[in-house]
Amino acid sequence: MPDVPPHAPSKINLKDYQRPSFDVETVHLNIKLFEDYAQVNSTLKMVRQTTGDIILFGESLELLSIIMNDKALTSEHYQQEDGKLTIYEAPDEVILDIQVRICPQTNTALEGLYMAGSGDDTMFVTQCEPEGFRKITFYPDRPDVLAIFTTRLEADKRYPTLLANGNLVEAGEVADAPERHYAIWQDPTNKPSYLFACVIADLDVLTDSYTTSEGRDVLLEVYAKSADIDKCDVGMQALKDAMKWDEVNYGRAYDLDRYMIVAVSQFNMGAMENKGLNIFNTACVLSSPETTTDARSFSVKAIIAHEYFHNWTGNRITCRDWFQLCLKEGFTVYRDQSFSADQQSSAVQRIDDVATLRAHQFAEDAGPLAHPVRPESFVEINNFYTTTVYEKGAEIVRMIANTLGPDDFRKGTDEYFRRYDGQAVTVEDFLSALSITDDKIEDFIDWYRQPGTPVVSGSQTYDSAAQTLTITLNQQTRHVKGFDAPKPLPIPVATTLFDKDSGAIVAERMLLLDEATQTFVFENVASEPVVSLLRDFSAPVQLNYDYQDADLAFLLKHEINGFNRWQVTQMLVNRILLQSQGAKSSPDVYLEALAQTLPVLAADDAMLAARLLDIPSAQELASAIPQDYDPVLVKEQRDGLYQQVADKLKDQWATLYNDLPMQSYEDSAQARGIRALRNVVLDMALTANVEGAADWAQQQYDHASCMTERFGALKAMVNHQLPKANDYLTDFYKRFQANDLVIDLWFSVQAAADDVTPDVIKSLIAHTDFDWNTPNRVRSVIGAFSSQPTVLWTAEGLKMYTDVIKKLDDANPVLASRLLQVLARWNTLAEPRRQMAHEQLTDLRKNVASKHVLESLESV
Ligand code: PHE
Ligand code: ZN
Repeated sequence: MPDVPPHAPSKINLKDYQRPSFDVETVHLNIKLFEDYAQVNSTLKMVRQTTGDIILFGESLELLSIIMNDKALTSEHYQQEDGKLTIYEAPDEVILDIQVRICPQTNTALEGLYMAGSGDDTMFVTQCEPEGFRKITFYPDRPDVLAIFTTRLEADKRYPTLLANGNLVEAGEVADAPERHYAIWQDPTNKPSYLFACVIADLDVLTDSYTTSEGRDVLLEVYAKSADIDKCDVGMQALKDAMKWDEVNYGRAYDLDRYMIVAVSQFNMGAMENKGLNIFNTACVLSSPETTTDARSFSVKAIIAHEYFHNWTGNRITCRDWFQLCLKEGFTVYRDQSFSADQQSSAVQRIDDVATLRAHQFAEDAGPLAHPVRPESFVEINNFYTTTVYEKGAEIVRMIANTLGPDDFRKGTDEYFRRYDGQAVTVEDFLSALSITDDKIEDFIDWYRQPGTPVVSGSQTYDSAAQTLTITLNQQTRHVKGFDAPKPLPIPVATTLFDKDSGAIVAERMLLLDEATQTFVFENVASEPVVSLLRDFSAPVQLNYDYQDADLAFLLKHEINGFNRWQVTQMLVNRILLQSQGAKSSPDVYLEALAQTLPVLAADDAMLAARLLDIPSAQELASAIPQDYDPVLVKEQRDGLYQQVADKLKDQWATLYNDLPMQSYEDSAQARGIRALRNVVLDMALTANVEGAADWAQQQYDHASCMTERFGALKAMVNHQLPKANDYLTDFYKRFQANDLVIDLWFSVQAAADDVTPDVIKSLIAHTDFDWNTPNRVRSVIGAFSSQPTVLWTAEGLKMYTDVIKKLDDANPVLASRLLQVLARWNTLAEPRRQMAHEQLTDLRKNVASKHVLESLESV
């Protein structure tokens, strides 16, 4: 048992949920920003709901006064402890006037109201989800308290941009202070405090408009610093596409007259769906062909859509408590994935979503931080913005949608919006609305409660006399410490049978595995078929089927489902690379199948062809190794297979590369596919030492029409340590010096380089452009570095990494704790690394104070 440190932070449990004693009807906020502090006055109209005291939360606030129903309160009327302010014996109707002082100028945690940017670009923005509002003023800061907000902002005129949620109702000069001005915003919707936002800045704006299906004319605005305003149109277009998409696919129209997006360079996460006023990490909204890779640009569109979709799934219907986070996030991720699937090849979209799930969520579910999609307890809710809540949460909604089919799913979502609009609800409410046409949907609740990735194993027998194929499937989920013994879950397994001779489809069925073991019989099957399972990844499980390698090669050739063709390559690769886990396939079948498929597919669907060459990252492979993980061995094996692929097709790379000529930039699926494949081919050619490949890289960089081409070439040069790599790094830096997001790429390509050392990382940290206060920059070095496990899991690598956590623990605990997640799987390392990691993490635990980081270290 780990010894519990004396300052062990306390847990909050779902089972202890209680309704608030008081509701807030209206809030008037008056935020006055001064040179080195801000004054926040608030007026809350509160009404009693049940017995009990008034409980307000507040952190890092200097309380100046509280007045209740015109009477100043003194310390005998209330108690202040652990971030909680309890007011005793309040009457049933209360007007509270609260005055506090805060210091956004020194707020490095990036929660509440904080200063971002520097010099002429200094701005003030808020981040309130999940519990940042309590850093602005005392408030019943919990998602089930909904109120109507009016916000007055006042600041020096050098910040002309004053924004808050809703509609602008008044603006003007401040009497007696000609250098100051103010704006008053009113939000007509009832909202929880976590959706509050305001911005005080000097920004340019790109405007557009959209007329909703209900005939509402909406003003659309994207705010960014003037140097960035030319990179806002991709986001603007995505916003309009998302608005339309939600009307067509879910019948949901926008409900305010204005929709604003603000780009900020210092932000802990990707973006935030504040009502009518989204705040975005610049990395998730700015995009231009010259500065943004295709992959980034695509995710910009997806994130814009994600935040927009929250307006219905999250804002109009919100979460009763933070345990229900997946209610808004899982559903909204499912919605943004569906949106993205309509913007490109749906197979590639599914491949990318599943690759992310397998690389990160499966790893989380396999490690000590495994938790249910709806957790039952937490110390710090910020630690639960995880890939399990988001991505596995989305997979559950997908399984439900596929089980119901499009019509009944739409009936269910319509019912959800009809029933719960304006309320703060639970996962049970969601399932109950979705089950109006099929009450079996309620059984999916166990997916929300049970951690661990189910393993589905199976085999088949063919009876030629009876002409039947019998598939036996069973499911098993590891028992995660601290949870009940796992139960069988409803697992939809999309199954297709292929005729071995012709490759034609003989049968197609959705099998529902909802017991520990089940058999499924297919009748009238004339000869033993090849079975394709889990098509489109119909459930988030690990599949072990007793395939012959030849069956998989057959499927790579004959499957018409693009996702499954990719899945087959991944199964083959895993069988080759996870030898230490009992897998034993020789690479021959895989290499031969690739060699046959690739040249044909390259001409046909370049994007899919590029994906077929995927080999899981070292971290992903590691997550399939429950014990005695040796990073050096895994890397050797992975690199070895990569080399074999490159060598196998050595004669073909030149032809493939030349058949993908560089053209002037175009943002079409086909052009993106060609660029993606060209980068993969270039790297393969360099790996195989194809003559002239180094020149291709330089040419590609020199004549690049866009960042995808330029950065692809640079990355290849750096990773293959080409003699000119340093010159090109210097060129890249000079060209893009003024653009922070591109300089992030410059940092990350070095920090993630194959030959990176702790010294390289130290020198990057020492670079004048490195900045501890900009999470994007920290991640571009530290996050990128963590993709090299052979360096990370050394005494020196770990020391450096844990020093970074120590350094950030106080300044930005959210960021520190997120970076720390990478080390969670220390306990699967082979000795002596395991012991070494344990020592360093134990030492780290003694040197940190935030509950965020301490909770992430609980299993050490
Ligand atoms: N709610 C945001 C999203 O998923 C994420 C976020 C969480 C942003 C916490 C900031 C802080 O869209
Ligand atoms: Zn979200």
